[in-house]
Amino acid sequence: MKILMVCLGNICRSPLAEGIMKTKLPENFEVDSAGTISMHEGEHPDKRAIKTAAKHGVDISKQKSRPITAKDLENFHKIYCMDLSVFEDVISKAKNEQQRQKIKLFLEEAGNTVENIEVPDPYWGDMAEFESVYQLIDEASEKIAQKLQNQ
Ligand code: 4NP
Repeated sequence: MKILMVCLGNICRSPLAEGIMKTKLPENFEVDSAGTISMHEGEHPDKRAIKTAAKHGVDISKQKSRPITAKDLENFHKIYCMDLSVFEDVISKAKNEQQRQKIKLFLEEAGNTVENIEVPDPYWGDMAEFESVYQLIDEASEKIAQKLQNQ
């Protein structure tokens, strides 16, 4: 099964989600990430994201930002969006109902309640914000990884 994590810039949240989810799923799952904007295309993740992940033993330093493509909506089986605006953006790219069905709000899939269904953007924040985003993504990834393996 192929899983895609999506945020805005693909340098903070979705690289963390990719790195974390890879540690929770067996090798027959393929995990990748992308952004809805191409502004950071080719760049490695934000240094603060790399440092936060490294603190938890997860290496995301070799990832490179890329924008989501029409092919991704065909190729991936599950597409997890980090916030509502990303979700709406990705939904607008879907060509049919089958593609729309693949697109999920990451925290909603993890069973979070309506008050807490968006992963906050840590880009303008400090290291403490990166740490709390890491924890949020880690807990949600654990639940989603269980769910995917029980299907
Ligand atoms: P991300 O964070 O979507 O979690 O990768 C951001 C990265 C870059 C920008 C905004 C958010 N930006 O405005 O460049």
